[in-house]
Amino acid sequence: MAKNSHTFSPLTFLLFLTFVATSHAGGIAIYWGQNGNEGTLSETCATGKYTHVIIAFLNVFGNRQTPEMNLAGHCNPSTNSCTKFSSEIKDCQSKGIKVLLSIGGGIGSYTLSSIEDARNVSTFLWNTFLGGKSSSRPLGDAVLDGIDFDIELGSTQNYQHLARFLKGYCRLGKRVYLGAAPQCPIPDKFLGTALQTGLFDFVWVQFYNNPPCQYNGNITNLVSSWNQWTKNVPATKIFLGLPAATAAAGSGFIPADVLSSEILPVIKKSGKYGGVMLWSRFYDLQTGYSSSISGSV
Ligand SMILES: *[C@@H]1O[C@H](CO)[C@@H](O)[C@H](O)[C@H]1NC(C)=O
Ligand SMILES: *[C@@H]1O[C@H](CO)[C@@H](O)[C@H](O)[C@H]1NC(C)=O
Repeated sequence: MAKNSHTFSPLTFLLFLTFVATSHAGGIAIYWGQNGNEGTLSETCATGKYTHVIIAFLNVFGNRQTPEMNLAGHCNPSTNSCTKFSSEIKDCQSKGIKVLLSIGGGIGSYTLSSIEDARNVSTFLWNTFLGGKSSSRPLGDAVLDGIDFDIELGSTQNYQHLARFLKGYCRLGKRVYLGAAPQCPIPDKFLGTALQTGLFDFVWVQFYNNPPCQYNGNITNLVSSWNQWTKNVPATKIFLGLPAATAAAGSGFIPADVLSSEILPVIKKSGKYGGVMLWSRFYDLQTGYSSSISGSV
């Protein structure tokens, strides 16, 4: 081996500095919970591919309904068999992975009928999944890092109040992170008002099933929408939300090489860039999409 093979030339070093100054490293957030054949939480976290794991979904809440969680074939909350994931959540957290519970989803019955209802739901979430106490904790005593809003049906009202009440629990010690999964058209019908509070730490925008702002063989619409999100929406970090397989969404799948070579280099210039969100662990397991993009995220 040549003695100086690892020496940077001044020009290489300058290019390196330029790259560091204008590009931001991100993480990969993954939704887990809607397919019993996607492996456990511990297996998901042991891959080392993900920085955020979002457990989906609590899909019944609000308006005096008894809340319900649905984790597909993983376990049955009504027989308390989901508590087995408590130690797995702690295992993920010990690796530095943030674990959130997603409320909402595409199928369910949820709505916030009033500010008081939003307050009651926030109390329920705090006691049942966060730092509070309850005799009924479907995920056991693990304290989740936060709550993700994937609101796609029901009333559009009062989610800004739920966000405010949940963030209010931060003063009790451990930080409560807030995530949101709006659709890419701005403003999001269900979450637009809540996002304007500026209280959300991670906004993983769904750039799929949304032809006006997704990739369609041409990156123009997606990049222009991304620029509006990063300029106009006051969130701490914004993630590019994508399907991990063509079968994972009706439209909007981006081949990994296009994402890595054409899109990520452009969107990473924003200081608000947080990384890529993938739907879902099940599809990522089929395609290895996260592995294909991890060097570029
Ligand atoms: C909120 O909780 C309080 C206390 O449990 C209860 O009295 C009230 O009816 C609840 N309101 C709604 C809208 O669920
Ligand atoms: C991409 O779309 C934009 C806007 O619709 C258009 O102006 C541009 O020519 C397209 N680029 C390519 C390479 O097709």
